[in-house]
Amino acid sequence: MAASLCSGGLVAVPTETVYGLAAAIDNPDACRHIFAVKQRPPNDPLIVHVADFEDIRSIAEIPPVLEKLAAKFWPGPFTVILPRKTCVSDIITSGLNSVAVRIPAHPVMQAILRACRTPLAAPSANPFGYISPTRPEHVLESLGGKIPFIVDGGPCSIGIESTILDLTDPTRPTLLRPGGITILEMEKILGQKVHQLSTETAANSSPEQTIGIKAPGMLSRHYSPRKPLKLFLGEPPMEAIEDEQCAILLLKPMPMPPKNTRAQLEILSTDGSLETVAQNLFHALRKLDNSPATRLFAQVPDPKGIGLALLDRLNRAAKA
Ligand code: TXA
Ligand code: MG
Repeated sequence: MAASLCSGGLVAVPTETVYGLAAAIDNPDACRHIFAVKQRPPNDPLIVHVADFEDIRSIAEIPPVLEKLAAKFWPGPFTVILPRKTCVSDIITSGLNSVAVRIPAHPVMQAILRACRTPLAAPSANPFGYISPTRPEHVLESLGGKIPFIVDGGPCSIGIESTILDLTDPTRPTLLRPGGITILEMEKILGQKVHQLSTETAANSSPEQTIGIKAPGMLSRHYSPRKPLKLFLGEPPMEAIEDEQCAILLLKPMPMPPKNTRAQLEILSTDGSLETVAQNLFHALRKLDNSPATRLFAQVPDPKGIGLALLDRLNRAAKA
């Protein structure tokens, strides 16, 4: 694997969040190839993965506040946006003066990074806009034939993408994407407020303008099944329950499913644990997208803890 990466190949790699499509950062052609394989627009920059904290020094400026966050959250499902150094290719950063960096925890990914001895740029290993892969068979299904290697590291233990925190202005840490690490956890370590783009956009610029600059690629419909998906809070709508063409994603089993249930029910956890829901969400969405059902419904969680990230992914997945 490492030899393939070092000679400019792309390799699908396991991480604890989702599978990534990796290329060595010192090979701009390989990085460009990632965009072609994923059909990803060039203005949507990639995350750079490193094995150790020290590896970050060669690619980004490290603000003092990062040391505390790193001690708590790395290796793990946590990405930071930092001022970049000039050696990082514009292809990776989409020409921005910042770079996204993460130290993944998955032991296989750690071993690959150490064998390569170079940081790896890796977006999620799915076609742009489709559901992220959390098992090797998902990568095979979507990108098989387009890449030479998929490393099987088993199902991802977190199941949704990393939390992204913008630290380009360390006095104003800003959440760009909710994920496995929650706002509260970060605020506890930082001892200061974590700002959120969606609720705090400047009064005199449109939210789309502000978010467009800060978090490229995060506005559009994303994580989406091919079939129409509707969200609901609480009990599933009766029209869905009674329709055999419908499939319904539930956070946990219904205490008493109605007698006239004809829809396919897909249960994401036995007890409503949102960590378990996160582990299973993308697999279940793919499964239903490949099932005979023609319309999909999904129950939404409270936006607490990892629930905020789940709600974010479901909202984007359901966007028409
Ligand atoms: O868990 C994860 O983060 C996975 C695994 C493979 O590490 N990766 C992942 O990558 O989700 P991707 O490319 O699907 O999502 C990365 C997001 C994109 O929305 C991109 O726009 C944003 O990070 N991003 C990357 N560099 C950025 C930068 N310099 N400033 C702002 N946003 C950036
Ligand atoms: Mg992605």
